[in-house]
Amino acid sequence: MVVKVAPSLLGCDHGNLAGAASVLQGQGADWIHLDVMDGVFVPVLTFGAGVARSICDSVSIPVDAHLMVQRPADLIDAFAGAGCRYITVHPESSEKHLHRLLGSIASLGCRAGVALNPATSPESLKWCADLIDLVLIMTVNPGYGGQKHIASMGEKITVARQILNDAGRTDAHVSVDGGVNSSNAARLVLAGADVLVSGSFITSSSDPRASMDSLRSST
Ligand code: DX5
Ligand code: ZN
Repeated sequence: MVVKVAPSLLGCDHGNLAGAASVLQGQGADWIHLDVMDGVFVPVLTFGAGVARSICDSVSIPVDAHLMVQRPADLIDAFAGAGCRYITVHPESSEKHLHRLLGSIASLGCRAGVALNPATSPESLKWCADLIDLVLIMTVNPGYGGQKHIASMGEKITVARQILNDAGRTDAHVSVDGGVNSSNAARLVLAGADVLVSGSFITSSSDPRASMDSLRSST
């Protein structure tokens, strides 16, 4: 699979996220990663579907909404309507029926993702692999940008990729999120990731284009 770089906008000016997304697209981003936080599932509150719509309208590349929210079922319609291509939900949220939620995301015309916190085991993915278009392996505990990357999650990336392959889902993506930079990208891709979400490494850089290129070329 070709490796894709998905910059997170979390560290950008939240007064101009659509502008930031458009600039990142011009600098070579493959996808745009939106960190949607509700102040409950994680302590921080970021933005809702209205802002997501402005961002989606400003770019032509896929937008991937990472819903770090307690009640994802309440929000999927709005984020689908906003134009997000991927909607990724956490099974650690209050959602008790992940299988049904993934089906609902597909029925809205979006691709469905499952994000796993560092302490969450990937084995249950096997039972809904037919409904999964993306697995997001968290390599930090969600909530903040700029945290230290948890290298031991490499093994979970490999397990998730194997589960998808065993289910015949070689088309599904394995994405990794948290402290991704040019020093760990090669190892993450070797483990089985094909989408590299990266926030501070790209958006704090004086040359985001070069930072995104360095993620791709280090693989
Ligand atoms: C963490 C978010 C990440 C984060 C990535 O809760 O899901 O997408 O913004 O930022 P870095 O790359 O700085 O860890
Ligand atoms: Zn994220």
